[in-house]
Amino acid sequence: MLTSKPTMEGAGVRLERVFGHAEVPRFDPFLLLDDFGSDNPDDYLAGFPWHPHRGIETVTYMLSGEVEHGDSLGNQGVIGPGDVQWMSAGGGIIHQEMPRHVQGLMRGFQLWVNLPAASKMMKPRYREMPASTIPEVRPKDGVRVKIIAGEVDGVRGPVQDVVVNPSYLDVSLGPGVDFEHPALPGHTVFAYAVEGEGRVGPGSSQELAAGQLALFADGGPILASAGDGAFRFLLVSGRPLGEPVAWNGPIVMNTREELADAFREYQEGTFIA
Ligand code: CO
Repeated sequence: MLTSKPTMEGAGVRLERVFGHAEVPRFDPFLLLDDFGSDNPDDYLAGFPWHPHRGIETVTYMLSGEVEHGDSLGNQGVIGPGDVQWMSAGGGIIHQEMPRHVQGLMRGFQLWVNLPAASKMMKPRYREMPASTIPEVRPKDGVRVKIIAGEVDGVRGPVQDVVVNPSYLDVSLGPGVDFEHPALPGHTVFAYAVEGEGRVGPGSSQELAAGQLALFADGGPILASAGDGAFRFLLVSGRPLGEPVAWNGPIVMNTREELADAFREYQEGTFIA
């Protein structure tokens, strides 16, 4: 079990890092998960000004608040409550992600998904999924699942054609309710508690409270159950890549040479095709 840790990122954003560099390769194909939640704009307004990415995908999911973004492909917009942005940096993208001042709570997540060697230099791809395009199913009383990627009850999420065949679910359970979800054999699976407390894992094996994560490296059906109160968690899985990871800041490649090339190209202004 991992507990998220306060971290400073971007131009001075206070956030909670759930896992990252220090955990490689345990979460393969996932590299990092950040949980940003604050009701104090000073914690997030500095944002993430223009920066490059190469070799990975970044997935931003907002629960509340708004993030304004723009990128070198010419995309520009706002990620609002319930919206998802799935960005495949591939061979190179330069973007900025700037939280807007909102009243009340800002809460969202960013997940980094690694790309295999054969796809690291793919053409960048950007997908924006407004909340209205993310299906929600109620497989039984007291269970609500938003499907960003993957499938529940025959309903598929909008994110498809991602190399590691990810599943990304936002699961809400009422008090005392349980939920079972099959995981693909060999896939890395983790559950991250967003609100409340409950148990998750093969046989509901781990107890989680908000801000805690459980990792299941061996797939198998995942059983989750809420305690006396409601329980909300992210359930994410993907196919491990089993490749070497060379990681510096926002760029993740297979070798140090590829990393050096990327930073040199960024300095020289030839980073994006
Ligand atoms: Co970024």
